[in-house]
Amino acid sequence: MKTSLQTEPEIRQRIWMELQRATQDRHHEWRTPVLATVSADGLPQARSVVLRHADAKLATLQIYTDGRSPKVAELAFKPALMLAFWSKRLNWQLRVKASVSVQHSGPEVDAVWARVSQSHAAGDYLSARAPGDLLQSAADDAEPALASSPSPSHNLAIITAQVQSIDWLELSREGHRRAVFQAEAWEWRVA
Ligand SMILES: Cc1cc2nc3c(=O)[nH]c(=O)nc-3n(C[C@H](O)[C@H](O)[C@H](O)COP(=O)(O)O)c2cc1C
Repeated sequence: MKTSLQTEPEIRQRIWMELQRATQDRHHEWRTPVLATVSADGLPQARSVVLRHADAKLATLQIYTDGRSPKVAELAFKPALMLAFWSKRLNWQLRVKASVSVQHSGPEVDAVWARVSQSHAAGDYLSARAPGDLLQSAADDAEPALASSPSPSHNLAIITAQVQSIDWLELSREGHRRAVFQAEAWEWRVA
């Protein structure tokens, strides 16, 4: 069904509101977008991630990851990404194009780690093995090897996407709508 939202500011505001909600609501369909990057061989890569933070004023989105993961190396090679979101409830697709910075340390990483280290996800960032490392067998990973030092250092890194443009598509029996917008611009497009 078509949303009742008509004006450009209304749609823009609602999109950022839903992105922000998705960071807080585990059941929101936009909580787990697909993150696409370009690998060093120039080929596309894509994987699901959890949307952790959305700031409408700064036009930024954040994702947490293991700093040793291949996606971080890809982003160092080509600091650009696309995040693809789909919501059946809203009948909205978003394709968010962004430039990227990755923080491996510093006060923001420390603040996030202070929270994550208290959660069940802490182990994801303490493994002695890097994501994608080869295993001898599936059983080898039954208990992920934790770093063995008494106070192991974590590998949590923050990916900050500086949004450049959003391609919004609304599916509707009454007619699809599509627009591409930036901070100061809005273009209606053929859906
Ligand atoms: C629902 C879901 C959520 C995920 N969330 C994250 C995430 O927030 N951060 C992350 O690094 N990987 C996340 N993953 C794992 C990635 O999809 C991927 O397998 C992993 O990060 C390795 O990707 P890479 O080899 O491209 O670096 C998630 C996977 C699923 C299925």
